[in-house]
Amino acid sequence: MRIIKIKMGIAFFLVLTLLSCSKDGGSSSSDPVIVLGTPFASNASSITDNSFTANWVVVPEAESYLIDVSTSNNFSNFVTGYNALEKTGTTAEVMGLSPGVSYFYRVRAKQGNEVTNNSNIITVTTTGNQPEDPTYLKVKANALPNPFYVGVAVKANQLTDGSSYDAVLKNEFSSITAEYEMKMNPISTGSGSYSWDAADKIVNYGNDNGINVHGHALVWHNAVPDWLSNFSGTDAEFALEVKKYITDVVTRYAGKIKSWDVVNEAVDDNGNMRSTIFLQKMGANYIKDCYQWARDAANAAGDTNLLLFYNDYATSTNIPKQNKMFTIVDDLMTSNLIDGVGFQMHNTYLSPTKEQIETDINRAVALGLKIHVSELDIQVNQNNDITYLTEERSLAQKEKYKEIVKIYNALPDANKYALTVWGFKDNESWIPYSTDLNHPGNDWPLLYDNKFELKEAHTGFLEGLD
Ligand code: G3I
Repeated sequence: MRIIKIKMGIAFFLVLTLLSCSKDGGSSSSDPVIVLGTPFASNASSITDNSFTANWVVVPEAESYLIDVSTSNNFSNFVTGYNALEKTGTTAEVMGLSPGVSYFYRVRAKQGNEVTNNSNIITVTTTGNQPEDPTYLKVKANALPNPFYVGVAVKANQLTDGSSYDAVLKNEFSSITAEYEMKMNPISTGSGSYSWDAADKIVNYGNDNGINVHGHALVWHNAVPDWLSNFSGTDAEFALEVKKYITDVVTRYAGKIKSWDVVNEAVDDNGNMRSTIFLQKMGANYIKDCYQWARDAANAAGDTNLLLFYNDYATSTNIPKQNKMFTIVDDLMTSNLIDGVGFQMHNTYLSPTKEQIETDINRAVALGLKIHVSELDIQVNQNNDITYLTEERSLAQKEKYKEIVKIYNALPDANKYALTVWGFKDNESWIPYSTDLNHPGNDWPLLYDNKFELKEAHTGFLEGLD
């Protein structure tokens, strides 16, 4: 009996509570419950360099709206003054913005203390162009009285829209060189047959993004495809295969590639003509033949502006090699078959000296040729005496980058072309543990570290542009 009485008491209390709610204006089952709808944000209007109008659809019963504006679509940061800014209409003037920047907005409806969820997100990009950041290499180089291309060696698989390489490339560089994929061995799969995909991707990326493309390299003894190395035809037929290759490649990219390394590293470290398959099978005139074929192909394709370069390494410190290179260059000049010299500059933090570099490069300046510092990297562990990039070596590397950029920047305008670094990140460089270099240790030769962070070397490059 006791239990029944208690239950009846609770039930009676509940009924009273419900009735009392209705008396003093609380909601009751008879009053309509207002469900505040989540707003729908619509496209922005009146977009200028520094402002836009945010719009949304009215929500019945809403007394006001709260608008958020951010530079990130996860709203991790808000544009000052636009974090839950309360508005009573269905528009908001968003002002004080920067040109060429994407903004994101969303809105909530409010009635009394009730606030709905966020609306959909609208993206809007203000008109105009972002002021270029002078801490980007190409931006600072382009602002010089006599600008030049700032180049980087690339791989086709880095050139994916939105990749970290893509972002750094478009911010920092104005020229690209294929580190490998525009050489004969990846392209030439047989007599008259080619694998163009990687080379096309690199060339198209440059042309689609207003970035200069330097072709490297039509003829190089370290890039001979097996089928040509094992060629069983006569020497004359071998020469015809080389001519066909040069003609087909230069023709394919006519008007899309501004310059080619026609012959790469034809001089050996003793200052003699390197005994390559090309010299052996085509004879001493092979270099001039290759440049003639490249020039003829370009002219036939209507590309009379193609720049033909000769490219080599260590000529600043190896004087016999330097002298032989300029003998080749002089010979090509007599037939107007060369427009520039590529100095690879695979240097160390100790060598070559400023004077050695200037002496070497100035011989090409005196000939009126374009200068391409074509493969710049600066070793800091060539003797394998450190196991990480010490601050001391990092600063020495910074000074060496600054030195060579200053040398290049001081060139006469007529001789400037490009200064190209040979890759992005230290751990992707060809140098660490390189058997070619007989470099058994690690090294950190480039401008960005393994995490794509800027190194002091990058600062040195920028300071060289002052
Ligand atoms: O991508 C292929 C891969 O698909 C294949 O499975 C693998 C099998 O060997 O080879 C890969 O290609 C390698 C390529 O680099 C990747 O980028 C080649 O083997 C390798 O030989 C090639 O090395 C390049 C080297 O030239 C030879 O072409 C280096 O990256 C490049 O830094 C180096 O650059 C040269 C310049 O062209 C001329 N001056 C000297 C400089 C340093 O050697």
